[in-house]
Amino acid sequence: MAADPVPRKSIRPEHAKRFRETRFQRMKPIVIGLLAIVLLSVLTCYWLVFIRVTNPGLTFENELQIPEQSFGTVVDGRRQFHLTVAEGTREFLPGKQTPTAGVNGPYLGPTLRLRRGEDVDLVVQNNLDEMTTMHWHGMHVPARMDGTPHQEIEPGESWTASFEVHQQAAPLWYHPHPHGTTGRQVYRGVSGLMWIDDDHSDALDLPRTYGVDDIPLVIQDREFDGDGAFRFAVNQGAVYGNTMLVNGTWSPLLRVEARRIRLRLLNGSNARIYYIGFDDGREFHQIATDGGFLDAPLQTNRVTLAPGERAEVLVDFSDGAEVVLRSYPEAGLLETITSHWVGIGTGNLQLLKIVPKSPTRVSHGLPERLNPIPRIDASQAAKTRPMVLAGPLQRGPEGQGGQGGRGGRAARVGQGGQGRQGEQGGRRQRVGPAGIPINGKTMDMARIDEVVRLGDIEIWEVSNRGGQPHPFHVHLVQFQILDRNGRPPSAAELGWKDTVLVPPGDLVRIIMRFDRYADPQVPYMYHCHIMEHEDNGMMGQFLVVEDPALLSKSPSHVAGG
Ligand code: C2O
Ligand code: CU
Ligand code: CU
Repeated sequence: MAADPVPRKSIRPEHAKRFRETRFQRMKPIVIGLLAIVLLSVLTCYWLVFIRVTNPGLTFENELQIPEQSFGTVVDGRRQFHLTVAEGTREFLPGKQTPTAGVNGPYLGPTLRLRRGEDVDLVVQNNLDEMTTMHWHGMHVPARMDGTPHQEIEPGESWTASFEVHQQAAPLWYHPHPHGTTGRQVYRGVSGLMWIDDDHSDALDLPRTYGVDDIPLVIQDREFDGDGAFRFAVNQGAVYGNTMLVNGTWSPLLRVEARRIRLRLLNGSNARIYYIGFDDGREFHQIATDGGFLDAPLQTNRVTLAPGERAEVLVDFSDGAEVVLRSYPEAGLLETITSHWVGIGTGNLQLLKIVPKSPTRVSHGLPERLNPIPRIDASQAAKTRPMVLAGPLQRGPEGQGGQGGRGGRAARVGQGGQGRQGEQGGRRQRVGPAGIPINGKTMDMARIDEVVRLGDIEIWEVSNRGGQPHPFHVHLVQFQILDRNGRPPSAAELGWKDTVLVPPGDLVRIIMRFDRYADPQVPYMYHCHIMEHEDNGMMGQFLVVEDPALLSKSPSHVAGG
């Protein structure tokens, strides 16, 4: 191998090197400038999306309202509640009167206290000037008592739901469910909490003094017009507000004793998802999910709540430090950025300032165990049903939908949400231009989509083929999450659930037991709990029957109950 006889340098003429250098010299500031611009815009975007508070300037000077609690009255051994739904006005923002609707008051409703084993009657009086219904979200009730779109209450009329409470202690809630107008009615203020207690929950060493160390927190986003009216503005197919209310209180402050406090959170928003934590990053313990206690307290610093979901947490305030309950932009990176971009941002939101004061009692302890959750055995499942969210909309008769109910009504699919929805005229107006389907179909109140055999265990495979997250809710049952994309659920998802968040591309397998309440005529619902999606047809209906084979091939009609 011959050595290079000539020094390298002399190969390249000096002027070429000079030329390259001058070109580089000329380019250098441009390149550096461009890099700086890129870096700056990345930092700015990061700041805008992840750091900047979306609702700044709150002074937290309004005492957090605590909805009154109601134990009803016991009449002939039945616990009776009277709920009157009516319009009202309420001052949320200083000096502005907001037209609202509520239950036994202008905004939201009383927290109903139920006990396992009791018979209850819930008398709902509709004093609105439009039809409504009242649904007991998370409660195991007969279909005729479920307050779905089929149990209509006309203006001036009343309706009574009667059932036995036979499920464990759980933080449930109630809200209207008229097809096409659920979102509007809830947005105006119609909804409330419904908590079940039982002997087991009584025996746990947990804070339970309502409004003192056991605090309900209904989290909602609203948008206000200049004159104080609620603005119901659909963006990206749903309603997102820029102003946070907790229990209907704007810029709220909560004073608690400096000890362990129980917060019972409900995401009562139409569409917004929250990733809740404290601004000092403190850890706390989640103790319950939608349908009851976890096995054991779960130490964490975040709780994810999609619309309809609940969580109970225990927070230790004994350090006496003031903290702000916040929501953080913690969806997937791409989702966080795009949702921010289109103006529905997952949000860096201030919710509630909490100020501890000196305690008058010693703190409750932290129970080691709460409630054992027996896992439902997947090998016992009698049936597996796909639930494809936001896949292609099937046109034509049922059956082509692949998931045609055995109840076999002719489907009127493909009307996809242009304006009204059939026989009931203007009342059933849809919100957006196009409905998002489940299993290729949008909601048809006259069509049964699924028929379940009483007593069966079933697995539903809920997959999201769309580009935005959908919280999937099933009436009648509390289910367990088997897995998410083939992986075991997170610790917080090991609890009893009736609503599960399914982000784009996810496949969540849920398992449930249908051990009560057959009715061959009146269906239950499953749907996305983003209320505008639901109103716009992202909902289906299932029957629970003793023997699906006995259902006639052409059942007469879907009864209202
Ligand atoms: Cu909370 Cu069918 O709903
Ligand atoms: Cu429900
Ligand atoms: Cu949805």
